[in-house]
Amino acid sequence: MLGLNLICRNFSTSIARAAIKNVVVVGGGLMGSGIAQVAAQTGHNVTIVEINKDILDKTEKSIQTSIQRVAKKVYKEKPQDGEKFVSETLSRISSSTNLPDVVQDCDLVLEAIVENLSIKHKLFQSIDSVAPAKTIFASNTSSLSIGEIASVTNRKDRFAGLHFFNPVPVMKLLEVVRIPETSDETYESLMAWAKAIGKTAITCKDTPGFVVNRLLVPLLAEAVRLMERGDASPRDIDIAMKLGAGHPMGPIELADYVGLDTTNFILKGWNEKYPENPLFKPCSSLEKLVSEKKFGVKSGEGFYNYKK
Ligand code: CAA
Ligand code: NAD
Repeated sequence: MLGLNLICRNFSTSIARAAIKNVVVVGGGLMGSGIAQVAAQTGHNVTIVEINKDILDKTEKSIQTSIQRVAKKVYKEKPQDGEKFVSETLSRISSSTNLPDVVQDCDLVLEAIVENLSIKHKLFQSIDSVAPAKTIFASNTSSLSIGEIASVTNRKDRFAGLHFFNPVPVMKLLEVVRIPETSDETYESLMAWAKAIGKTAITCKDTPGFVVNRLLVPLLAEAVRLMERGDASPRDIDIAMKLGAGHPMGPIELADYVGLDTTNFILKGWNEKYPENPLFKPCSSLEKLVSEKKFGVKSGEGFYNYKK
């Protein structure tokens, strides 16, 4: 009996630990390109899906630049090994504009598209009946509810949040977000995958902003409000938080770095859901910049100008 128990336990462990090898990353922007790079760097086969070929070309260029930086750092003394690392990594990445086509043999679909619930719903609905039963779906959302995103699928037991941080090749954290329906097998596979891609994973519940953004986004918004009141200039706010609080970037430059469109989507979404919370109030200067398509570093201008 004891022997059978052991066998059963080993068997269920082997199911729980089914390794994720083939990954589809949907969205090749700031986050998707970094996630795809890190997964490929660590030996996974990755397909990036975007809405058109021009964006895929941009994604490819940004991955090439970033992977060169990693190679330069890791293989400082051995540039030839660095070249091999770059070419092997790039050879594991392919791209497509047809999502249903590429999910056929994948273990994990990781969504990193625009922060909009109905667009994310459309995406997961389009592949739920096409993807194999084994495939885990995950969202990299910054602020939306994983449960609400998963609600349109018939695989809530194989659904979770995988929240990465920007820049993905550098930031070591991965938040693994469980919804009540996420199975132990799914959760364990994702925790093992986090380790396989070299990240430190923490587990959190499906609450607004999980851990990091629940603390960080109100900080960014407070900094913008401080600036709007004229209490200090953007540059002085940034210097203050770098030199006075030891942050690697000041909050105004971090908002530009995250993307003002994304930061604004987060605040507006939370404000609609929790109008009584003053920490989530939208900021007029942020909304104005977004309406002018000034999204921060990625568009060349935000609170600061990056075109020079
Ligand atoms: N790809 C690869 N490597 C990169 C990189 C990239 N995109 N960006 C930076 N690096 C590497 C550089 O090569 C460099 O390596 P070495 O130190 O070995 O030379 C190292 O990172 C530091 O880069 P820099 O010297 O260019 O600049 P820095 O020292 O100012 O660091 C930074 C840049 C890592 C971005 C740092 O400023 C930082 O940590 N900023 C805060 C970032 C942060 O808070 N991110 C979380 C945002 S919130 C989020 O992502 C969640 C959300 O949902 C909104
Ligand atoms: P981004 O604007 O840089 O990239 C989004 C990409 O998704 C664009 O290239 C767009 O063409 C593509 N896209 C949109 N709809 C698509 C579809 N139906 N199919 C395929 N591709 C599609 O945005 P980002 O900063 O990479 O953010 C992506 C997601 O990650 C968002 O949910 C965001 O909240 C989250 N996130 C962002 C950060 C950050 O610091 N920017 C950090 C963690 C999580």
